Amino acid sequence: MCGIIGFTGNIDSKRILIDGLESLEYRGYDSSGVSFFNEKNKVETIKCVGKVENLKKLIDKNLSISNCGIGHTRWATHGNVSIENAHPHKSGFVNLVHNGIIENYISLKDKYDIKNTISSTDTEIAAIILNKFYTETNNDPLVSISRLSKEIKGTYAFCVIFDDRPNEIFAIRKVNPLVSTISNIGSIISSDLTALIPYSKEYYIVPEDSIIKLEQYKIKFYNINNLERINLTPCELNWSNDSTMKDGYPHYMIKEIYEQPKALENTIRPHLKNHIPDFSLENITDEFLKSIDNIQIVACGTALHAGLVACNVFSPIIKIPITAYVASEYRYSEPLITKNTLVIPISQSGETVDTIASLSLAKSYGAKILSVVNVRSSTISRESDFCIFTNAGPEIAVASTKAYTVQIATLFLLFSKIAYLKNMMTIDELINFSKTLELIPQIITDTFSSDKIIKEIAKFLKFKNDCFYIGRLQDYISSLEGALKLKEISYIHTDAYAAGELKHGTIALITQGIPVIAIDTNINISSKLLSNVEEVKAREAAIILIINEKFEYKKDLAKFVVPIKDIDYRFAVFPVSIITQLIAYYTSLEKGLDVDKPRNLAKSVTVE
Ligand code: AGP
Repeated sequence: MCGIIGFTGNIDSKRILIDGLESLEYRGYDSSGVSFFNEKNKVETIKCVGKVENLKKLIDKNLSISNCGIGHTRWATHGNVSIENAHPHKSGFVNLVHNGIIENYISLKDKYDIKNTISSTDTEIAAIILNKFYTETNNDPLVSISRLSKEIKGTYAFCVIFDDRPNEIFAIRKVNPLVSTISNIGSIISSDLTALIPYSKEYYIVPEDSIIKLEQYKIKFYNINNLERINLTPCELNWSNDSTMKDGYPHYMIKEIYEQPKALENTIRPHLKNHIPDFSLENITDEFLKSIDNIQIVACGTALHAGLVACNVFSPIIKIPITAYVASEYRYSEPLITKNTLVIPISQSGETVDTIASLSLAKSYGAKILSVVNVRSSTISRESDFCIFTNAGPEIAVASTKAYTVQIATLFLLFSKIAYLKNMMTIDELINFSKTLELIPQIITDTFSSDKIIKEIAKFLKFKNDCFYIGRLQDYISSLEGALKLKEISYIHTDAYAAGELKHGTIALITQGIPVIAIDTNINISSKLLSNVEEVKAREAAIILIINEKFEYKKDLAKFVVPIKDIDYRFAVFPVSIITQLIAYYTSLEKGLDVDKPRNLAKSVTVE
């Protein structure tokens, strides 16, 4: 969950490092730092706690001329948030930044009798050991790095500069991502593509079994074991620079909320031919889809909620087991996998380590892997048998919005095709389903007009410490997602409950004025949901009702009502998501919080 950047070229490296860290900051922002060669080829290091803007202030005062350096923005894993624990970490010749977790760092401390460390991080241990190997090999960077890779257990992306090798950067990775490019200003390496976009239209994925060496206009790859040179073909970088900018919006999150109609169009259109879902782009054949007899979805957070929505809609239609699992649980389970089991990892970043581990486990059991991923070239997309890319564009805000709705749309397309191929949906039902899906971008656009009432709701929620979301069936899943959005950016303790479950204990927490956001979009159970609302109303809860505009309800039932367009309840999750995203956004804004970079979080959870 950290961001790494490295640059060696013909312009001031400190500016490139800071720009890169600013674009990577969503990966973690507890502390940050840079190490760079100055005009005397001496390595200087500047680091501080807090966001990258704090580091920028310090660097702006530094007058050194530098053409090569590395930088890091940290999400604390080992060791608290402090200057001492901020990266880069130095030991002798070695200046090291690290993303990941070294699981055996304690035993390595003992093995190499490492006593006095400056920090409490696993990274410093790696720096100390690397320096030991470096001096033992007459300052040979490749041999010493290769030796280090054999000692480390866990996940890592390391970038290193050695004091006596000016203008050179070395890096290795295992599980945690690194990409690199050569541009007209020099060579750059980063944790992900967002930092490379301004400089190049192509990039290299750093392979796990290689050492990469960056010189000013050269990138070399070496096999990490025999140190032989490796030739790699670059990938095309198809994200534009402005796609990672705010385009005039005050925050990335609100920009990404409003990008959803376009993101959905860009995701749905390539996968429909005459209103029939089509995955020939991904070489996914109808025969393969028809052969599937068990579907296991693995994901985390919002991506998991997308999987739950698809399970809820299609389990009753396809009539094969379709189950969504918490990836951090699944990875340590013993899944029931047969030769016709399809495992579907869902991930915006494609780098969530629990989802990667679940993918690996499922593969070891012989499952076929079809992933749904937003970031191209990501680990999950590369490790899958098939990958359906969502076309949401870069999602920068930590709170996932457009990635969620495009994930649901993709799963709807995939599962409706499977239902048809298994004769569980007629061709007319399939076409009608697809046609409704094609209307969703416009339905979402229409939902944006709810922002007026939502701003009023935000003013009301601003002073609350607790909140409940309740719903039934798919509206319960929407409650899970709404609660996650609200709590992660407003810090209001928000719980989601199956509405019928409240009276089995939790209703004890309902006191006067507590906000309860009830979601009601399924006519078949609306009366049941509204009865649950009456139960909490009777205990003086403040009701916020998100309800289909055609449904009947007592006019004095709710303090706020947000109507949604009358729609097949299987698709209601789309407008409802917009509303719950906007509730979270405006509440966070009302509280004056950092909407895009909430505390303790990072965009890509690349550690356990
Ligand atoms: C979403 O708002 C959260 N920030 C988080 O739950 C996220 O969905 C989860 O970490 C999964 O990330 P991924 O989609 O990149 O795998």
